[in-house]
Amino acid sequence: MLRKDFLRLSALCGGGIFSVSTFARANKPLEIEELVASSGIDGSMFNYADAPIKKVRVGVVGLGNRGTTLIEMLNWLVRNDHCEIVAICDVQKKHIERAQSRISKFQNTSPQVINGSSNENAWMQICNPDLADLLLIATPWRWHAPMATYAMEQGLHVATEVPMAYKAQDILEVIKTAERTKRHCIMIENCCYNGEELFVLNMVKEGVFGDLTHAECAYIHDLRELLIHKEYYHERWRLNHHLERDGNFYTTHGLGPVCMYMDILRGDNLSHLVSMSSNEAALSNALRESDDPVMNAISNKVVCGDVNTTLIKTEKGRSIMLQFDVHTGRPYNRLNKLCGTGAVHYGYPSRLYIDKHDGDWHSWQDEASYKEYLEKYAHPMWTKLREQISDNEQGHGGMDFVMMFRLIRSLNHGVALDLNVYDGALWSIVGALTDKSVAEGNQRVNIPDITNGKWQKEAEHPVFREL
Ligand SMILES: NC(=O)c1ccc[n+]([C@@H]2O[C@H](COP(=O)([O-])OP(=O)(O)OC[C@H]3O[C@@H](n4cnc5c(N)ncnc54)[C@H](O)[C@@H]3O)[C@@H](O)[C@H]2O)c1
Repeated sequence: MLRKDFLRLSALCGGGIFSVSTFARANKPLEIEELVASSGIDGSMFNYADAPIKKVRVGVVGLGNRGTTLIEMLNWLVRNDHCEIVAICDVQKKHIERAQSRISKFQNTSPQVINGSSNENAWMQICNPDLADLLLIATPWRWHAPMATYAMEQGLHVATEVPMAYKAQDILEVIKTAERTKRHCIMIENCCYNGEELFVLNMVKEGVFGDLTHAECAYIHDLRELLIHKEYYHERWRLNHHLERDGNFYTTHGLGPVCMYMDILRGDNLSHLVSMSSNEAALSNALRESDDPVMNAISNKVVCGDVNTTLIKTEKGRSIMLQFDVHTGRPYNRLNKLCGTGAVHYGYPSRLYIDKHDGDWHSWQDEASYKEYLEKYAHPMWTKLREQISDNEQGHGGMDFVMMFRLIRSLNHGVALDLNVYDGALWSIVGALTDKSVAEGNQRVNIPDITNGKWQKEAEHPVFREL
C-alpha cells in the first residue's frame, strides 16, 4: 500500500513545479512571480457575495478522522434548518457506515451514499448543482485541488480542509477557477476561530497592541504514532509526504491567525521568506522501533527534517517566525506570540504583557488582570455562540463549530465569506515555498502577490461582521 502511494505521489510530484527532479533539471530558481503574472489572476473574488441559500445542501467527501468531526459540527446547523447533508463519499465502506450512523442521530433525511471503494473518482457524482450547493473536502492533500476545481467547474461552492494544496501550480489553479466560475472556495482554517486567537485579534482591533512588529506561530504536534499507525491515516498518506519533501507541510494553523492579526491581504502582504530544516532524527527512530517490518524498512527514507523554521517578512516590514514539527515528542503548541508597541501575547498558556511604562518589565499580567482583559476583549462572535459552543465541545474546544457556523450562515445570508480564496491560497503557498527555500540551501524566496494588488486596500476583517 505504502509503496503504491509512494509511487503515485512521486508521479504527481514529477509534474509539479517544485519537484526534486525539476530542480535538478532546471538548476535555476523557479520563477514563481512569472507563473502568477501569466496566470491572469485578477483578485475579483475579494468581497465576493453570491445569492443567499436558504438551506445549504452539503456534500462531504472524505469521511476519515476530520470528515467525521466536520459532520458532527453540522449537527446544530442541520437541526436548525440552516443546512442538510445531502451526499457523502469515501473510498472506505466502514467510514461511510460510520458517517451514516452519525448523521442519522441528528438528521431526518438520509444522504445519498457514494461508495468510491472501486472508483476513486466516484466523488465527482456529488458535484452536481441539482444535488448539492457546497462540497466539503476532508481527504488526503493530493485530492484537495482536483476536487475543489472540478466542483467549482460544476457550479458548487467549496470548503476544503487545510492546506488548500501543497504545490504552487495547483494553488494558482484553484484561484483561477474560483475567479472564472465565481464560486466560493474557502480553506476552512479552524484555528482562526479559536477563542484565544479571536481574543487576541479583538485586542489588536481595539488598539491594545499598538503598532504590530513581530509574531511567532507554529504547528508543533507529535504525530509519530499516528503517522506510523497502520490504519489511522488512509494508506498512511500523511507519512508519505515525510518521505518525499522537506519544508513546512502544515503552515496554516499558525500562520492563518497571525495573518488576521497583521491585516495580511487587507492592507499588508507577505513579501518573502527564508526557510531552514533541522536534521531528521525522531521519526526515523520511531520507524526503526516500530513492530511493523514495513516501517522498519523505510526508516532511512525520511526526508523531512524534524523542525522546520521559516522567517517571513511582510510588505510593511513586520517579521513572522513560523515553525513546523510533527516528529519531536513534546506537548502540542501553536506558539501564538504577538509583539506590538503596546502589548505582547504568548500562547500555551495564554499570557499577556501590557507595556505600562511603570518600570516593571518582567511580569505578565496577573491572573485577575488577565481575566479582566479576557472579559473586556472576548470576541463578540464567541460570546454570542457560547451556548452552541458548549453543545459542540468535541470540535477542538469549540472552534470547529464556530467555523462551520460562520461558513453556513454566510452562505445562508448571501454575504462574502470570512476567508476568501486568496487567504487560503496564500497561507498554503507559503508551504510550497518553504520546500523551495530548503531545497535551494535556505535561499530567500519571494512570496508572489496572488491578488493582483487588491491586498493594498485596508479593510476590517470579515470575522467582525455580525451574522
Ligand atoms: N483542521 C484540522 O484541525 C484538521 C485536523 C485533522 C485533519 N485535517 C485535514 O483533513 C484532511 C483529512 O485528514 P484526516 O486526518 O481525516 O485523514 P484520514 O486519512 O483519516 O481521512 C481521509 C479520508 O479520505 C478518504 N479518501 C481518500 N481518497 C478518497 C477519494 N478519492 N474519494 C473519497 N474519499 C477518499 C479516506 O478513505 C479517508 O476516509 C487533511 O487535509 C488534513 O490536513 C484538518
